[in-house]
Amino acid sequence: MPEKTMGKILQIAQLGNPILRQPAETVLDIDAPDVQQLLDDLLATLADVGGFGLAAPQVYVPLRAFVMTTYPSQSFPDAPEIAPTVIVNPEILARSEEMEFAWEGCLSIPGLRGRVPRPSAIRARYLTREGQVVEEEFFGVPARVFQHEHDHLDGIVYLDRMENMKDLMTEKEFKKMLS
Ligand code: NI
Repeated sequence: MPEKTMGKILQIAQLGNPILRQPAETVLDIDAPDVQQLLDDLLATLADVGGFGLAAPQVYVPLRAFVMTTYPSQSFPDAPEIAPTVIVNPEILARSEEMEFAWEGCLSIPGLRGRVPRPSAIRARYLTREGQVVEEEFFGVPARVFQHEHDHLDGIVYLDRMENMKDLMTEKEFKKMLS
């Protein structure tokens, strides 16, 4: 078992920074202290800022890892409770033909929301922070979060997935629409 470390709260790269547009590299040694520290830092940073997911390139580290969590929120009242989870070297093995639209935001693109179509279910394979291989199906909000974070590892942001730029709004207008 890798030794547990304390997570640090890291700076989040903002849209326009080239780190968000480059493909990230496979994690080769999951037990390396700097990798385990990164995973703790991702968890600590996500807990600090809130939100459903955070990928390593968003904290300036070009490695294929992210953390995700979901819970009922104003934008996603039906989201299930999923405890913060570490996902390393993810692969999406299959995507449903059925697509779903929902409003997404991104910690690297503050103040905006966009309506993004995504397959409503996926089958994925990834490593836990202990290096165990997991194959899992995700549906609905967790499937969306997984795909959004997985995209960050390929230099893709949700704006690239939008079908219509008219479906982009400020956070302020978005909140008005919900209330
Ligand atoms: Ni994002």
